[in-house]
Amino acid sequence: MLLNRWQSKRYSPSMTKLAHLMKRGAEFLGCEVAIMCGAMSWVSERNLVSAISNAGGFGVIACGAMTPELLDAEIAATKALTTRPFGVNLITMHPQIMELITVCAKHKVGHIVLAGGLPPKGSIEAIKEAGAKVLCFAPALTLAKKFARSGVDALIIEGSEAGGHIGPVSTSVLAQEILPELGDQLPIFVAGGIGRGGLMASYLEMGAAGVQLGTRFVCAHESIAHPNFKQAFLRANARDAVASVQIDPRLPVIPVRALKNKGTEEFTRKQIEVAGKLDRGEIDMEAAQLEIETYWAGALRRAVIDGDVEYGSVMAGQSVGMVHVERPVADIIAKLMREAEEALAR
Ligand SMILES: Cc1cc2nc3c(=O)[nH]c(=O)nc-3n(C[C@H](O)[C@H](O)[C@H](O)COP(=O)(O)O)c2cc1C
Repeated sequence: MLLNRWQSKRYSPSMTKLAHLMKRGAEFLGCEVAIMCGAMSWVSERNLVSAISNAGGFGVIACGAMTPELLDAEIAATKALTTRPFGVNLITMHPQIMELITVCAKHKVGHIVLAGGLPPKGSIEAIKEAGAKVLCFAPALTLAKKFARSGVDALIIEGSEAGGHIGPVSTSVLAQEILPELGDQLPIFVAGGIGRGGLMASYLEMGAAGVQLGTRFVCAHESIAHPNFKQAFLRANARDAVASVQIDPRLPVIPVRALKNKGTEEFTRKQIEVAGKLDRGEIDMEAAQLEIETYWAGALRRAVIDGDVEYGSVMAGQSVGMVHVERPVADIIAKLMREAEEALAR
């Protein structure tokens, strides 16, 4: 691992220790430091992804709802900006997931992250046949064990502090449940709520191969997020990043952590209104659930790209309170490394 750019002039045993703790994760990813920038729809595109990889970390393209043609173009554009490895995050329920895997194979993408639920039949095999490594999100120990058995190369455990779609369990609890059981078997990357290098060092000491951060990188100079989106992050405190709440048991809401705004308030009112219509028999269950499901359609794009931070979805993790300035990716990574080194020295 090339730690020269982070290594201070003096010999530092704690940086050597950090390098040692990150070795497995960095080797697995093929980068310098075991810091992944988690895919963020609309944010993790060519500019941010290449900047992360060029700075020694590991960038991941968020495919989201892209068509195979769009993904093809995005990978090619990213490759034009970096010669270093980066990954692609695919959503498991994408109707063209197998075509998307073929696009990644064409470009010899080395790492594919499968997000959003159980991988569809044949997807893990197709990725491995193409010679790529597959990473899956494990929201519980039982599933983590199942993934390990089914040939998944690495796991990401993401706690409820994270921005975007979340599970119910915190990162600290998932890490304690999963790292001691499986940390020796396969590389595990810990995500959710990491804002400073000290916590990164703690998870590495607990047996993580590396970490994944999202919120921390949104305000990087190289991120194309709209200035309003970045401003909202810079102003927010941890308590502003709240998980969406389900009001009625008949109307399922997939929890998403985002900054509270007029859109989130309206969503609560919407659920009450739809539940009322259901009670009065004005709409059937299918129509009611569809109204809830589609409420946020296109809302992340509206916030990230158009800058509508009042009604759009400003997905952010609780670590948003530690994002104070817009700075280059390389500075963010250098700061995380410095903080981790200091923590280990203590
Ligand atoms: C704005 C935003 C969009 C995100 N979109 C995705 C996504 O499309 N796919 C995915 O797997 N995770 C997504 N995430 C989660 C990140 O990849 C990452 O795991 C998470 O941000 C890590 O936690 P942190 O926010 O506490 O650093 C998103 C997060 C944010 C903040």
